[in-house]
Amino acid sequence: MAADEYVLDTPLVRDFIAGVREAIASAGSPAEACERLRPGFAALLADPGWLPAAYQEPAPQSGMGGGIGQWLLYRAADGSLSLFSLVVPPGAQTPVHDHLAWGLVGLYRGTQEEEIYVPAPGGLELSRRQPLAPGDFYALIPPRDDVHRVRTTSAETSVSIHLLTNDTGCVWRHAYDPESGEARPFRSGYVNVACEEEPA
Ligand SMILES: [Fe+2]
Repeated sequence: MAADEYVLDTPLVRDFIAGVREAIASAGSPAEACERLRPGFAALLADPGWLPAAYQEPAPQSGMGGGIGQWLLYRAADGSLSLFSLVVPPGAQTPVHDHLAWGLVGLYRGTQEEEIYVPAPGGLELSRRQPLAPGDFYALIPPRDDVHRVRTTSAETSVSIHLLTNDTGCVWRHAYDPESGEARPFRSGYVNVACEEEPA
């Protein structure tokens, strides 16, 4: 089996991932694991020094569209965990999408507005909007609140950090038409690494 991939291979990232592994292994449920992960994740969001500028850059050719860059920092060999940054230029927004895995998502730089959708008869319904500022983060435990989109509201590019229990950029998930609720297969990819097989 291939080795874990530390694209950003620093002692800080290795320590962080080791702590995450330990927390997940000792927790009885995703909710409990997320509770245990909170302090370490908050510290990561509060630390201005660990994420190189290269991983805070938009990407003109991204799978998300709008110049949105999804940069892989770490992923487990077995696809059970990934850490990545999502860089959204001012005014740009992601498609409405799901994640299909639990974990933590938080804001590192800039500000965003998140729109959360729920399934409704004949489509999707906007459940709520929430603003996100640097340091804000939440536990994502699907299917609850798994469908959303984010938009950058700051004049500067926003950077969010995702710790999710799949290889989020490479799994096939869904993007949705917010009006009709229609789902289409969606694989966002990463800017800086390939997925095993390219989308057809
Ligand atoms: Fe998302």
